[in-house]
Amino acid sequence: GFLVENEVSKLEGAMSNPEHPLVVLIGGAKVEDKTPMIDQFLPVADQILVGGKIAADGYAATDPKIYVAEDYQGMSRKAAAIIASHVIRKPDCVLGLATGGTPVGTYKSLIEDWYKPGDLDFSQVRTVNLDEYVGLSPEHDQSYAYFMHHNLFDHINIAPENVHLPDGLDPDAERQGKLYDDLIHSLGGVDMQLLGIGHDGHIGFNEPCDEFVNGTNHVKLTDSTIDANQRFFEKREDVPTHAYTMGIGSIMKAKRVLLVCNGAGKAQAVK
Ligand code: F6R
Repeated sequence: GFLVENEVSKLEGAMSNPEHPLVVLIGGAKVEDKTPMIDQFLPVADQILVGGKIAADGYAATDPKIYVAEDYQGMSRKAAAIIASHVIRKPDCVLGLATGGTPVGTYKSLIEDWYKPGDLDFSQVRTVNLDEYVGLSPEHDQSYAYFMHHNLFDHINIAPENVHLPDGLDPDAERQGKLYDDLIHSLGGVDMQLLGIGHDGHIGFNEPCDEFVNGTNHVKLTDSTIDANQRFFEKREDVPTHAYTMGIGSIMKAKRVLLVCNGAGKAQAVK
């Protein structure tokens, strides 16, 4: 670990060794004086320990850390900054990625605020996505592979061989589950997993339930998900009925998880 004193400028040195967790110790004066500093460290620190008078004054580091942003853009910028800090610290990190409406702004900020100005290099980054529809080819404009290319991969310098999604065209669910789990394992596991959350609390395509599945699995989509997706397809019969999804067990194995959530309708799911 590192002890970083006062100056945020020392952060760069502390970040130079990606193998070491960045632990920030903040203590001393009043919480109001130190809050801006804590905010600056939040996106990059693995852990922030507060002590002394700040702790006594009531600053509680949250576990999980919850960042509340002003609006969708603010949330997206903060999420992008957290992901960017991981890529800077570990250029060949494994990012777990999600689709859906929520992370679109995060991907946009990664492209516009980090990649385009030349501050982020994806050339060694590896990615694994959470899920893919069964039966859709990567070229289908509703496939998650298409989504990822359109919203992120086509705009950054990621190597095509380093991006991975479950193969929606594999008819053998058992084989596909095993292949995807083996792949994640061979990459050394996920360093940071980006997640969205459904209104009913689903993560990936894992619906809330008593007993979660560990590895990548084949799920039947609920009627409400099929209904919700119908708007993207000409006919209801065209809407995929099944998907491959990483299991909650695999997701929880990620070293860090970053869940982005926007809109009052999701409040209950977050609670
Ligand atoms: C996406 C995924 C889903 C979404 C969830 C929220 O890969 O697996 O669990 O994260 O459905 O979607 P949005 O962001 O569109 O509200």
